[in-house]
Amino acid sequence: MLRRAGIVSAMSAGYHMSTEDFRRHGHAMVDWIADYLDSVEERPIQPSVKPGEIRARLPARAPEQPEPFEAIARDLDDIVMPGITHWQSPGWFAYFPANSSPPAILGEMAAAGLAVQGMVWATSPACTEVENVVMDWLVDLLALPQTWKTTGPGGGVIQMSASDSTHMALVVARHRVTARGGRAADAVAYGSAQAHSALEKGARVAGYEHIRLIGVDAVHALDPEELRRAITADLEAGLVPAFVQSSVGTTGTTAVDPVRTVGEIAAEHAMWHHVDAAYAGTAMICPEFRHHQDGLELVDSYTFNPHKWMFTNFDCNAFYVADRSALVDTLSIVPPFLRNPATESGEVIDYRDWHVPLGRRFRALKLWFVLRSYGAEGIRHHVREHVRLARELADRIDLDDRLGLVAPVPFALVCFRHVAGDAATERLAAAINASGVAHVTPSRLEDGAFIRVSIGQTHTEQRHVDRLWDLVDELAPPV
Ligand SMILES: Cc1ncc(COP(=O)(O)O)c(C=O)c1O
Repeated sequence: MLRRAGIVSAMSAGYHMSTEDFRRHGHAMVDWIADYLDSVEERPIQPSVKPGEIRARLPARAPEQPEPFEAIARDLDDIVMPGITHWQSPGWFAYFPANSSPPAILGEMAAAGLAVQGMVWATSPACTEVENVVMDWLVDLLALPQTWKTTGPGGGVIQMSASDSTHMALVVARHRVTARGGRAADAVAYGSAQAHSALEKGARVAGYEHIRLIGVDAVHALDPEELRRAITADLEAGLVPAFVQSSVGTTGTTAVDPVRTVGEIAAEHAMWHHVDAAYAGTAMICPEFRHHQDGLELVDSYTFNPHKWMFTNFDCNAFYVADRSALVDTLSIVPPFLRNPATESGEVIDYRDWHVPLGRRFRALKLWFVLRSYGAEGIRHHVREHVRLARELADRIDLDDRLGLVAPVPFALVCFRHVAGDAATERLAAAINASGVAHVTPSRLEDGAFIRVSIGQTHTEQRHVDRLWDLVDELAPPV
């Protein structure tokens, strides 16, 4: 019956879902999301499906006839949910968080409803101007240089991912080499051996033939002396040092590179200096973490992900440049159909010149909703609480003679191993994950296996970290 009723209603609206039906299903979908968020803690975090199992439950061909929305919603429960990994579980300690929050979800919804393309100011002025303002707000909130505001020579833009914005920085640096009469084939990009693989991927995509991964010190931070030696060797070989990245919070252990020293080296050689603070950038909303980004005035570009720890649904990467003309000069191509008086007046920002895609969603809405709904105070509260929980867990690990920390805890990532070695460490990680109530990431450094515990999911509280500790305590074999 339902199926028939749905088909009739779809056909009577010319196959479109009527706004009346949309309203009904939309309310039900919001209830579905709220129920999910209320119950996610009870669900085993990792699904037990085998490869191909979800696919096998889906028809091989798209439907020829319209289907009622009730059937689609039912399959969301019956087919999709069994294959979901619950990143929004408060027991999520794996990778880095990819947080959602109700205001961000509502912002996504509003953006989807408006469905504008904000490629240039003129194609939807509010899309650009809200983004300008939200990016400027973050400059103050994170104590970034004032010149990075869109009202100054620099500016911020929302991109899909830190990988995209790092790629952009590499493209601009490479362009600078050729604009100065050098050969792109001679350009060299540097970053630490602990830098995210986005650096190497971005450099490859941008056409760099020379990528140097510089050694790190005892706390996994870039060794500036090794950077100097690599630059000298490259200059002697006739190459052109073009780009260097400092990481503030590496993926492996949240190591912090010496931003100021790297900036001074970059300035000596007129290189582009990019900072990857994809995860740790959010922490800068609290003044007590800002010493980690000392030297930002010596930085050309900076990337951080509100879609990690700032309660804003993926995708939302914030990319800043100190001088936007470098970016625009590299990327701007104006086809005749995009010429318009606002662009020609020079009074507006056209974000299409700030990244590869032309079309762009109204992603600033969800960030705007989050910043207003939590307030800076709310975000600071949660960041501090996550860091407190991480340090408490690190203390427990430190006091246990079966376990050892493998890195300092500057933010909310705890890295540890079992003292019995790789096999015991890997078994411990697997046993924690098999519990279904907590999920961690097994990883490796040069000296062996370790376990990453990233505390930062939107709803992670003391009791979730206590439960994780109880698991570690119960599952770690004696020495
Ligand atoms: C330090 C760092 N940089 C870059 C990235 C890549 O982020 P994205 O998925 O936004 O490209 C990550 C992802 O975890 C990261 O930790």
